[in-house]
Amino acid sequence: MAKKHILIVPGDGIGQEVTTVGKQVLDRIAEKFGHEFTYDEALIGHVAIEATGEPLPEETLVKMRASDAILFGAVGHPKYDNDPSAKVRPEQGLLKMRKELGLYANLRPIKLFDELLEASSIKPEILKGSDILFFRELTGDVYFGKRERLDDGNTAYDTMIYSKYEVERIARKAFEAARTRSKKLMSVDKANVLESSRLWREVIQKIAPEYPDVDVEHQFIDAAAMLLIKDPRRFDVVVTGNLFGDILTDEASQIAGSMGMLASASVGDSTGVYEPIHGSAHDITGKGVANPLASVLSAALLLDISFGLKAEADAIIAAVDKVLKEGFRTRDIANSETPADKILGTYAMGAELLKHL
Ligand code: IPM
Ligand code: MG
Repeated sequence: MAKKHILIVPGDGIGQEVTTVGKQVLDRIAEKFGHEFTYDEALIGHVAIEATGEPLPEETLVKMRASDAILFGAVGHPKYDNDPSAKVRPEQGLLKMRKELGLYANLRPIKLFDELLEASSIKPEILKGSDILFFRELTGDVYFGKRERLDDGNTAYDTMIYSKYEVERIARKAFEAARTRSKKLMSVDKANVLESSRLWREVIQKIAPEYPDVDVEHQFIDAAAMLLIKDPRRFDVVVTGNLFGDILTDEASQIAGSMGMLASASVGDSTGVYEPIHGSAHDITGKGVANPLASVLSAALLLDISFGLKAEADAIIAAVDKVLKEGFRTRDIANSETPADKILGTYAMGAELLKHL
């Protein structure tokens, strides 16, 4: 029996709706497998700015450090997207959390459920059998390098910066994972142009001999972006920097049919954070139509990675598989052939899922 304290951080937009279902699933798992999970909630993003003026209030950070794992929703608000001059932004809360908790490794598994082959805009015969695990570096790069608007206001820069130790620690996690899978690792950079990418590639090459059983392939980001939709099966474990990983994983989400299906784990020095890769989606917020499966699959990653509860995580994945096999779909993964009575809202999808747990 595991006794664990989980912090729920719904954040903005559909974050509230999807984490509600994620938590229901965790509760059911605790009941079924005899664990004791206690919960707390905290604010981040736009809702935190509204309540406290800060995108990541100190109180939230204290609760984060005190918990065994964090189930996270999303941050963002359209208000800021159209106001580039806003000084306080919801995303600052997310970035600060990643930095403060030392979450340098972002795992984004691209798991394709067979029933969703048709939901993708990529041809099924190209997709079938795709299974990719991204390791996106999460606390370095242009996200955290020096940035500035120069005095005349007409010029700005951001700095893409990496140190060897940052590349090495994420690379080791990726090499270890490759060992447990097909022993293939692709490292993605832009070493034909960028000095930080040449350092990246140098580090990968330097530690590769320590993993002689893993085949390493280097790709430039532009070529990788092309290959990903041309031949997704060629990818297995991929390691890349923060910005390239951000872009490439949104692209890769289309392999799984929808952003609404993709979970992620951010891990490193302290409490792990588990969140969908989708954003706050204000266009559908409050309508009860968001796909909760990314949050549910994030809960599965939480159980597996932070608590070592593999059987429990597998039970969740099997339940997702079952509801999809029964034909149930949220709007984002439905198509013109989906019968109307099989198209479910967020909570109805959660209820179907619970039936299999
Ligand atoms: C992600 C998101 C964030 C990022 C945004 C919301 C700052 O796109 O987690 O992929 O760019 O890292
Ligand atoms: Mg992103």
